[in-house]
Amino acid sequence: MKRVEIIDLPKVEDSRGNLTFLQNKDHIPFEIKRVFWTYDIPGGQIRGGHAYESQEEVIIALSGSFDVVITNSNEEKTKFSLNRSYYGLYIPPNTWRQMGNFSTNALSLHLSSSVYDESDYIRNFEDYKIK
Ligand code: TYD
Repeated sequence: MKRVEIIDLPKVEDSRGNLTFLQNKDHIPFEIKRVFWTYDIPGGQIRGGHAYESQEEVIIALSGSFDVVITNSNEEKTKFSLNRSYYGLYIPPNTWRQMGNFSTNALSLHLSSSVYDESDYIRNFEDYKIK
């Protein structure tokens, strides 16, 4: 899997409430090495605004909603609106992403294929364009 795409996660519907899960190999196309989440995002703020050289990621809107905007090296943008906790957005390496339009109480879960490594970040869009 090497393009940005939505992963449909299992949803176990129940009158007591719904349950969604993910487990290695079955639903995520990499071994999860790190999990982080963003929350308490003030209105109008944006996150991201970078690519990773080798890291893969799956982003899930566990609560609330937000947009993930992908920009390719031709500066064409594609927007994915995440608002369901049973959808994951797979993002391959070398993909410029920015998250914005966060709702109140938005909780954004990130599953990552590697531990934190600042040297894996491409933070300058001009560097990204020539990769
Ligand atoms: P960053 O990835 O730039 O945030 P975002 O892309 O959501 O805007 O990370 C912000 C800061 O948090 C950065 O200075 C490093 C730190 N950080 C860690 O220490 N570990 C992590 O796993 C992450 C994702 C960030």
